[in-house]
Amino acid sequence: MTHIKNLLSAGDVDRDFAIHLLDVAEGMSDVNDREIKKLPTLRGKTVVNLFFEDSTRTRISFELAAKRLSADVINFSAKGSSVSKGESLKDTAQTLEAMGADAVVIRHHASGAANVLAHSGWIQGAIVNAGDGTHEHPTQALLDAFTMRKRIHGNASSGKGLDGVKVAITGDVLHSRVARSNLLLLNTLGAEVHFVAPPTLLPANPANFNATLHYSLDQVIDIEKPDVVMMLRVQTERMTASYFPSEREYARIWGLNSDRLVRLKDTALVMHPGPMNRGLEIDAVSADSPRSTVLEQVANGVSVRMAVLFTLLSGERA
Ligand code: CP
Repeated sequence: MTHIKNLLSAGDVDRDFAIHLLDVAEGMSDVNDREIKKLPTLRGKTVVNLFFEDSTRTRISFELAAKRLSADVINFSAKGSSVSKGESLKDTAQTLEAMGADAVVIRHHASGAANVLAHSGWIQGAIVNAGDGTHEHPTQALLDAFTMRKRIHGNASSGKGLDGVKVAITGDVLHSRVARSNLLLLNTLGAEVHFVAPPTLLPANPANFNATLHYSLDQVIDIEKPDVVMMLRVQTERMTASYFPSEREYARIWGLNSDRLVRLKDTALVMHPGPMNRGLEIDAVSADSPRSTVLEQVANGVSVRMAVLFTLLSGERA
């Protein structure tokens, strides 16, 4: 098992370390089920949430995770800060370093921003990538894996990977940091990954990805019979061209709807990282069905982020 100082990519964790993180998250999940949801583990440590891009789930769950571990938490949002006066990432980072940050959780619109922070020497503490552009979102991949493992293996999850689990990641793969991080982690944990998307929303270099590519969601549902269908948000804010004829066409061909839902195998899970475009990539029946893990993913995000902060900050370092 290789310990890490920073979590920048889902590819940073080897199989043993990934399973270790998921097992620690199981323990944190037990804490989150208690009446008093607090551990003294990170008392005296300071965690900075540095968010240059909007977020609901990730920002709040990192804040809750750090507080449940008794760390001091500083929430920094670019909106309303001196970034709007032109302050650079370097000066912002050095200001946080001067205030004694032990960990910086960063979300940024630029791919590679977390790597820059980690390798710049501006900050000595641990860096956690909370989503950088279209690049990676490693804690989302961990919470997705945790959710799959818990649903598939139940109380016998501990120590297990996701060997042989067939996951169909569907939709706007091109712009999705969630898809990229999930691919890396799912490969590490032994799952079989299928990308399902219109040709315009698949990466230009598919041979570089250890996934099987499909253009028809109907064929994947009927022939591949996936254990998990993970729907991706259509990221119109990152689109600079017309990638599909209309939203109506996209929903008809690529959306998960009640007709497709009933054709999934009995045990199949429906996942979505959120935020959802209801009526576009997923309809309300699918999003709210008993197969849907959307809210479990949110709850599990707190446990997984507790595990990540605990592991990086509690001295379990190389
Ligand atoms: N899944 C996810 O990253 O959601 P937020 O953008 O709300 O953090």
